[in-house]
Amino acid sequence: MTVARRDLLLGSAALGLAGGLSPAPLFAARARPTDGLSMGGAGALPMPVPLDHMPTPLPVQDAARVLMDRGWLFHEGDIEPAPLDTHNATYLSVKAGNARGAAAVDYDDSDWQAVDLPHDWASFQPFVKTANVAQGYRPRGIGWYRRSVRLDPALQGRRIELEFGGIATNATVWVNGSVVAHNFSGYNAVRVDLTPFARFGDEVNVVAVRVDAEAMEGWWYEGAGLYRHVWLADYAPVSIATDGVHGDPRKRADGWHVPVTVTLTSIADGDSTAMVEARLIDPQGQVVAQGRAQAQVPSLDQGTAQLDLPVADPQLWSVERPTLYTLDVRLLRDGQVADERRVPIGFRTIRFDADRGFFLNERPVKLKGVCLHQDHAGVGTAIPDALIGWRLERLKAMGCNAVRSSHNAPTPELLDWCDRLGLLVMNENRQFNPAPEYRAQLEWLVRRDRNHPSVILWSVFNEEPMQGTPAGVAMVRRMAHWVRALDDSRPVTAAMNGAFFDPVNVAHVVDVTGFNYYQGDYDRYHQLNPAKPITSSEDTSAFMTRGAFETDPVRHIASSYDVEAASWGDTHRGAWKKIAERPYVAGGFVWTGFDYHGEPTPYEWPTIASFFGILDLCGFPKVAFDIHRAAWVDDQPVVAIAPHWSWPGREGQPIKVMVLSNAERVVLRLNGKTVGEAAVDRLMGHEWTLPYAPGRIEAIAYRGGREVARAAHETVGAPVALRLTPARTVMAGDREDAQAITIDAVDARGRHVPIANLMTRFTIEGGAIIGVGNGDPNSHEPEKGLQRSLFNGLAQMIVRPDGGRGRIVIRAMADGLKPAMLKLDRLGVPARAQVALVAPETDIRDWRRSPRLDTRPSADLAPAASDNNGWAFVHAGTPTPAEEAGWRMYRTVLTPRRAVAARGGEIGFAAIGGVASLWIDGQLVAEKRDPRPGPLTAPFPAGEGKRVIALIVAGLGNNESGLIGRVMVRPR
Ligand code: GAL
Repeated sequence: MTVARRDLLLGSAALGLAGGLSPAPLFAARARPTDGLSMGGAGALPMPVPLDHMPTPLPVQDAARVLMDRGWLFHEGDIEPAPLDTHNATYLSVKAGNARGAAAVDYDDSDWQAVDLPHDWASFQPFVKTANVAQGYRPRGIGWYRRSVRLDPALQGRRIELEFGGIATNATVWVNGSVVAHNFSGYNAVRVDLTPFARFGDEVNVVAVRVDAEAMEGWWYEGAGLYRHVWLADYAPVSIATDGVHGDPRKRADGWHVPVTVTLTSIADGDSTAMVEARLIDPQGQVVAQGRAQAQVPSLDQGTAQLDLPVADPQLWSVERPTLYTLDVRLLRDGQVADERRVPIGFRTIRFDADRGFFLNERPVKLKGVCLHQDHAGVGTAIPDALIGWRLERLKAMGCNAVRSSHNAPTPELLDWCDRLGLLVMNENRQFNPAPEYRAQLEWLVRRDRNHPSVILWSVFNEEPMQGTPAGVAMVRRMAHWVRALDDSRPVTAAMNGAFFDPVNVAHVVDVTGFNYYQGDYDRYHQLNPAKPITSSEDTSAFMTRGAFETDPVRHIASSYDVEAASWGDTHRGAWKKIAERPYVAGGFVWTGFDYHGEPTPYEWPTIASFFGILDLCGFPKVAFDIHRAAWVDDQPVVAIAPHWSWPGREGQPIKVMVLSNAERVVLRLNGKTVGEAAVDRLMGHEWTLPYAPGRIEAIAYRGGREVARAAHETVGAPVALRLTPARTVMAGDREDAQAITIDAVDARGRHVPIANLMTRFTIEGGAIIGVGNGDPNSHEPEKGLQRSLFNGLAQMIVRPDGGRGRIVIRAMADGLKPAMLKLDRLGVPARAQVALVAPETDIRDWRRSPRLDTRPSADLAPAASDNNGWAFVHAGTPTPAEEAGWRMYRTVLTPRRAVAARGGEIGFAAIGGVASLWIDGQLVAEKRDPRPGPLTAPFPAGEGKRVIALIVAGLGNNESGLIGRVMVRPR
């Protein structure tokens, strides 16, 4: 039971090595020939064709890191330690290793809940009217996590690092009873150098985390708890620092180079000299450049190695072909590889031009972007890696080429996906503050993310009221300076919402002016600042309820005809038109790609989520998806039609039909008759109002007189059966994979019923349903559990396979409907290694030892109340040196864990030196007659509260005596 070693990881590492990854779909559907990617509710065929193979796993960049996502114990609510009632207790409480309450090593967490990460405890909460509106009316509160870890004795002397990818929100972390981190942000990693705290062998290490999610950093749903991965790594004494490889290609006059800087860190005793080797591996696996450099690394300090890899004619990274190379950096010591990182990198140039916008590889690329919060139906912020990728691919299918991580550092896997998918990223910092703590967060972000080809902009803030003040300028100047010092290749922006024309404003100290809204000011700004590049950093803020076509303020419903928008924003079409028509505006970032919990706008309670998304909370497309597809997709014909065509009772009444296309001409047909025809307006689309007649409505798109695409809706009958549609028919049996599965109802002819709103119930074998949703921002149904009502025809479950092989079988039932069954293949993919679980045992580490006594003491001998000096503090495993013979008393007080208190257990001493007798609460329970070092075990009697354990040892003077090894109590 030790930390899984890196060789276990090599299998998955090998899978992730290939640098050049195909831009072919990873998760998403291939288009059905007849309707393109028409998921916007086509009556006949709304569902994409599932993919029948697994996506290539994300690259393993650091094979020394082992996931620590399993085996956590969670307690919701705070735990106050008992008050300190004596001077001596106070004295002891502030000593290293002596944390109290739930942070204490021996705290009894036996009634805590076992959880796996990622974990967002807020997503389990009900919606409560009095809870914070911005956070989606979900109580967040305070929570605790604990995890025990055993470290192989072979790891002694190695550098051991624990990393929390992100903790929402304010966190305190203890290791073995010592505070190791205070972190006041939910968006940056928390890294702990475990080395000086670590214990090896049988003794367990206890990690405790208190998370205060009452703290808020945003005005959106932020989740709560350990919602990103946790990693444990061990490295050689001289090793590559975390985020210690900077290798971001540059194009210079003489061609392409990869300047590589490697930061090394050392815990070795003396100063070291290390050799760093860097190899550049092309997408085909060929080493195309390599070099070596030496570095001096002082003891307990850092050193850097620098080298340059010239590369002739590399394949470029682009939105269409996101070609990745691997920068393989090895640290060599005595001819052996002591450490290694494999960093995916891409060759591309970027620049923002004040007149012509953004250039990628010297070609103009309009940023067709969306803003994202990390949030999904059912799982909240704890989005499995695969689902992050699936969400991004939905965006890519819409012609989106850029995302903004609003308003915080993204989960790192999001950037890995963006690198692979060819999505450009505006990478945003959370806290606008140049104080040291926040400077560190900003610098951490740049260091972590500066190798990603996808990242093209750093944003130091979003909408700060100080943006037009001297203090604001002073702050941005510093923050931009620190960013540039770490990365001189990407421009710095700030997402401003005003002050653009103030004489003092932060735009003067950033490279690209970011406009949030204020689209009417683009031209004037450009005229007054002709040399300043600008981009929309945020726009739109339009409202749509998926599948609804009439605004109803009473029922909190927003029409999908793209007519509703915030006063500060614009409709999808209106906002994009202003950007599209201005070559000097680099592009836009729609608020938002997906709906998110919280910030319910324009309606509040009982509404709990936003209406801004192009896709809803589940990633089901709204009409906005087709609006953007028509405007953004260039390489394939698009035609889409809204609304659906099932309006019982509305026969003969006028109905507005919207057709969106990127072709030249569209023809609208109702039941075979042409009812409309137009030259395509890609940006604004087309609308006709027709009397509703059941049947088939169809839009046909033409280019050069030839039909290039067609979309249709049919009037469907009553729902008779349920249907389950996965994104993939195969899943990895690794307990990590996840996918969204759509539930819908079909009529007697198997056609999607877009107006079904009925409750569905589920069962699953071979996996777990980790969340459910339906995209209705007004629904208060729980997002955990085995049921969900369809909302305007659709619901979703997020499925995570169990470990192992065989089929995953999912069934969906609804009253009066034929149930659906779905079988998915669960593949025996090697799971990523996880830190081994540890059985619940209590280590008794801390003992008091009496001075040497000439005669055998009585079992009730104890130190005086405030004696911190006469009796020594000793740690189990630290023997008393051999010296003259004599008696000693070892004494401690233990409150056993619940199971032991209730049913009794066993106490075990790994090794005691000398003759010994063991007493519990004054009763003799065992004796050891052989003076040579050896084990002793005894029953531990049941009983509540504090228990006094006394070990009387007689050392013979020739051997080490006392507590030579670990002591532990375990349940029976
Ligand atoms: C912006 C803000 C976003 C979101 C949006 C809603 O001002 O940057 O975070 O609140 O408004 O329209």
